[in-house]
Amino acid sequence: MAGLGTRVLPGAKTTPKNLLNVVDRPILSYVVEEARAAGIEHFVFIVGRGQGAIEDYFDSNPEIEGTLEAKGKLDILADIRRDLPQPGQMSFIRQMAPLGLGHAVWCARDVIGDEPFAVMLPDMLMMAKRPALAQCVDAYAQKGGNIVAVEPAPKGEAHKYGIVALDGQDGRLNRMTGMVEKPAPGTEPSNLFISGRYILQPEIFNILETQERGAGGEIQLTDGMFNLMKTQAFHALEYEGTTYDCGDKIGLLRANVAFALARPDLADAARAAIRELL
Ligand code: G1P
Repeated sequence: MAGLGTRVLPGAKTTPKNLLNVVDRPILSYVVEEARAAGIEHFVFIVGRGQGAIEDYFDSNPEIEGTLEAKGKLDILADIRRDLPQPGQMSFIRQMAPLGLGHAVWCARDVIGDEPFAVMLPDMLMMAKRPALAQCVDAYAQKGGNIVAVEPAPKGEAHKYGIVALDGQDGRLNRMTGMVEKPAPGTEPSNLFISGRYILQPEIFNILETQERGAGGEIQLTDGMFNLMKTQAFHALEYEGTTYDCGDKIGLLRANVAFALARPDLADAARAAIRELL
């Protein structure tokens, strides 16, 4: 999604924020891997000006690959190629103006066409045994309609997010009765915030086309979903795992630490380095 990455400037001035590294790979590498694990076969990136490096990242680079091959560095070569799509599996769309998440999703209407699709907000990096989007796909197989991944908001932070209202809470998958984007403190209908993984029906596109600006003066996906909820079911899935908000300095730092500690090849060295710093 196009955005200016203001919370991670100046790092995001020349590097799109979703290409900032977590350990040794860009954030988007993890998100694409999560999508693949959920069975996604076509990836649509909504990007803004100055984010052409995203397209280059997912393209082959004969110079780097040829050099690694010639030097016999085949493990690094395999690691680089792991992120590459099959030809034709990726589409890139310019959002042209940062008018909000709802507008970004609407920009993909022609490429997605008339079928259900997943939305992933790549700022939100998720660590989970069963990848978060795969958990959404499981929920979709059970309920159909529209699925929104949610999680409890840290105390006092609900107003920063989209918040859902539920028709009672029984287990992790519950029917939604409402949602609101960035509610004024004290007015939140629950403490469950929208985590950044969705499965949506294509009828959302017609709604987004005329969706008025909402919180922050932006065209909000949450408002569009709220309107779609008048005619279609929405379920909130409290997914099992941990979210790291990489659009935030400390969130990005936490992600780096957590993902390094979760890597068998780096865990010991990472733990020693962190202990020494503390
Ligand atoms: C967006 C969504 C919001 C969601 C959040 C998760 O907000 O509009 O509903 O809770 O992402 O990060 P943004 O972070 O773009 O303000």
